[in-house]
Amino acid sequence: MNIYVIGKPIKHSMSPIIHNYWLTKYSKSHIYKKKEVNKAFLPQIIKQIKEHKIIGANITIPYKKDMFKLLDNLDKNAIQSKAVNTIYRKENLIFGENTDGVGYCEALKREKKFEISNKNVLVLGSGGASFGIISELINRKVAKIVISNRTKKRGVELIEKFQNNDTKFKLIDWKKIEPDSSIDLIINTTSFGMNENETIKINMKNLKDSIIYSDIIYKPKKTQTMKIFERKGFITQNGLGMLVNQAAESFKLWFNIKLTSQDIIEAKELCEKTY
Ligand code: ATR
Repeated sequence: MNIYVIGKPIKHSMSPIIHNYWLTKYSKSHIYKKKEVNKAFLPQIIKQIKEHKIIGANITIPYKKDMFKLLDNLDKNAIQSKAVNTIYRKENLIFGENTDGVGYCEALKREKKFEISNKNVLVLGSGGASFGIISELINRKVAKIVISNRTKKRGVELIEKFQNNDTKFKLIDWKKIEPDSSIDLIINTTSFGMNENETIKINMKNLKDSIIYSDIIYKPKKTQTMKIFERKGFITQNGLGMLVNQAAESFKLWFNIKLTSQDIIEAKELCEKTY
């Protein structure tokens, strides 16, 4: 049987490399395939899982929110982020979950030994990716989240959505990003940086030496902003770790197999060969 990743465009997805590697390694005779679809096709995917024609699916840009609206059964991170990136069967019902946030946090833990609980985080962006990550930052009890978004209104909406939790929130102007020395981690969840000439203007004068700058972008391998942080001696991380770790969470939902750190490293190395 197949597993699909659906989106539009989907040509450049690395997910088949990752999942087909694990499927072979765990002797599963399924194939993970990319499928470019229009929005009207989304209900078909749910139907195919119901009818045992496919195992499940990953949903990517731009359909994560649309799929959320189509599903009756949702897990915690899907509900909190209002977005679904994984559909799977659980006790004959079709469920949707969002594994992006867990993938992001696990990548930080595995690759940088960084534990997010009680930390102060600056999150750049208030789009779908930001919602997915913040949902899990809250689950893992971060102390403070500072938001900066080009369109202020979307930043305000995001804070309104999440602020009933213990985590403190603050909004800062996109044109004046000046993190103070309390910030432990910066996460760029925007698409700004995918083009080589795009640099996020961040005033670095107050930053602590141990701060990590992380980008969820993985193409290019190093964004301009990552390069600037590295030149100043700061630790950086791109989005490939998040991609592989969110995939591992999806794999667990489909097969109830908890992949090892070694499985995750091997899949990431395969992806790195494609740069
Ligand atoms: P996704 O689901 O991938 O997060 P999205 O919901 O369209 O996509 O959100 C994209 C994010 O990138 C938003 O925070 C967006 O800022 P706006 O809310 O102002 O649109 C941000 N973004 C996209 N292009 C940007 C740019 N050129 N400069 C700054 N921020 C940008």
